[in-house]
Amino acid sequence: MRLIAVCGSARKHGNTAKMLHQVIKGAKSVGAETEFVNLFDLNFKDCIGCYSCKLKNSKSYGHCVVDDELKPLLRRIEESDVIVLGSPIYYGNLSGQMRSFTDRLLFQYLDYDGTATGPKPKDFKTALVATMNVNDEIYVERGFKDTLTNFAGIMSRTLGSCELLTLTNTVQFDDYSKYVYLMPDKEEKSNRVEKIPAEDLQKAFDLGVRLIKS
Ligand SMILES: Cc1cc2nc3c(=O)[nH]c(=O)nc-3n(C[C@H](O)[C@H](O)[C@H](O)COP(=O)(O)O)c2cc1C
Repeated sequence: MRLIAVCGSARKHGNTAKMLHQVIKGAKSVGAETEFVNLFDLNFKDCIGCYSCKLKNSKSYGHCVVDDELKPLLRRIEESDVIVLGSPIYYGNLSGQMRSFTDRLLFQYLDYDGTATGPKPKDFKTALVATMNVNDEIYVERGFKDTLTNFAGIMSRTLGSCELLTLTNTVQFDDYSKYVYLMPDKEEKSNRVEKIPAEDLQKAFDLGVRLIKS
């Protein structure tokens, strides 16, 4: 089994990357071959809406034709069994880099052929890992949960079953004294010893195991 994890945060040692590395650790512990990719290392464009991936009787059907640094990644994804996307939440949604990537990844497989499966090469197993500053209550109140559940639904329909894992209440700065931040959780976050609670790291590890074993 091959698992590929794609990170949509520029912070190489940030919350999202840490959670994805835990997923990878879990997957490796049960024998998976794994790869980690940071989208910020790749130079790529948004979907240009050319519809070549929907062209009848063409080689491009079911494939994105835009020729840039995403092309080899999209090929490696097709060779994988498990796709894990990780993103920080920016203004209640996935990061812009992740949205650009998912337009290219998902639209090529979107079902316009009435089969309810579309032109995807196989049924992948997938997961969406999202990290955000807000706490669990605000996550629900502000509709972030609805947005992510909806997006996980799109991934399920387009790629294959998708599990959503969220990390809320994240630590944003290594040293809170250096930044303008007067929110009520400042004290707790600046003094937190485990930047990501062990329980959340364990959930990410377990997700990696589950994605490979189930
Ligand atoms: C541009 C920007 C917008 C953000 N918007 C939100 C938001 O709407 N809700 C939230 O809870 N956190 C928001 N955050 C905080 C990040 O989602 C959070 O700190 C996340 O864990 C960062 O992940 P990273 O360390 O992998 O980059 C925002 C951060 C930035 C830089």
